[in-house]
Amino acid sequence: MKFFIDTANLAQIKEAQDLGVLDGVTTNPSLMAKEGIKGQDNILKHYVDICNIVTGDVSAEVISTDFEGMVREGEILAELHSQIVVKVPMIKEGIKAIKYFTEKGIRTNCTLVFSAGQALLAAKAGATYVSPFIGRLDDVSTDGLNLIEDIRQIYDNYGYETQILAASVRHPMHIIDCAKIGADVVTCPLSAITALLKHPLTDIGLAQFLADAKK
Ligand code: G3P
Repeated sequence: MKFFIDTANLAQIKEAQDLGVLDGVTTNPSLMAKEGIKGQDNILKHYVDICNIVTGDVSAEVISTDFEGMVREGEILAELHSQIVVKVPMIKEGIKAIKYFTEKGIRTNCTLVFSAGQALLAAKAGATYVSPFIGRLDDVSTDGLNLIEDIRQIYDNYGYETQILAASVRHPMHIIDCAKIGADVVTCPLSAITALLKHPLTDIGLAQFLADAKK
């Protein structure tokens, strides 16, 4: 399973890259705003800065909601760097844009996916990644992991190559459950990845080994 980090914070991206287990980065307009990145030139430069830190795919989201606008923005983003994946919202115009980008050889991430039907449409349009938001489903008392299971089954039934990128992943159990189901990728804060390191018996065992080594 691939690990992506869901942030536009360069320090965190560098820290995750240095850990040696990072496969890519996802961003969205909210994450860019959180870092105070404003204006077209600064936003484009920031995507390039991210690409220069990581070796894997970097999702950069369009903000247009019409087909022509998405195509215009997506083509500029894809030209920026070979690692850029154009992130497109799951709306009617977005599906048309994903189909267009697929035919042009531009890779896409279909975002804001909350149902199996939406994921099926994204795959049919040729999306490289589909991003079901499991944490936000959990927030409204709907099991986000059930959606990952449904999408996995549908994609396996028909051999769709679209990768399931479990998004809105909030904690280490989300990561483990996604791995059990067979999600291709998880994207989450760095804290959820580093939480996988922790076990009290590891700490107790190490303390004992170090104490015994001094004897
Ligand atoms: O980037 C999309 C998704 O991962 C957002 O997560 O925590 O804002 O629901 P969250």
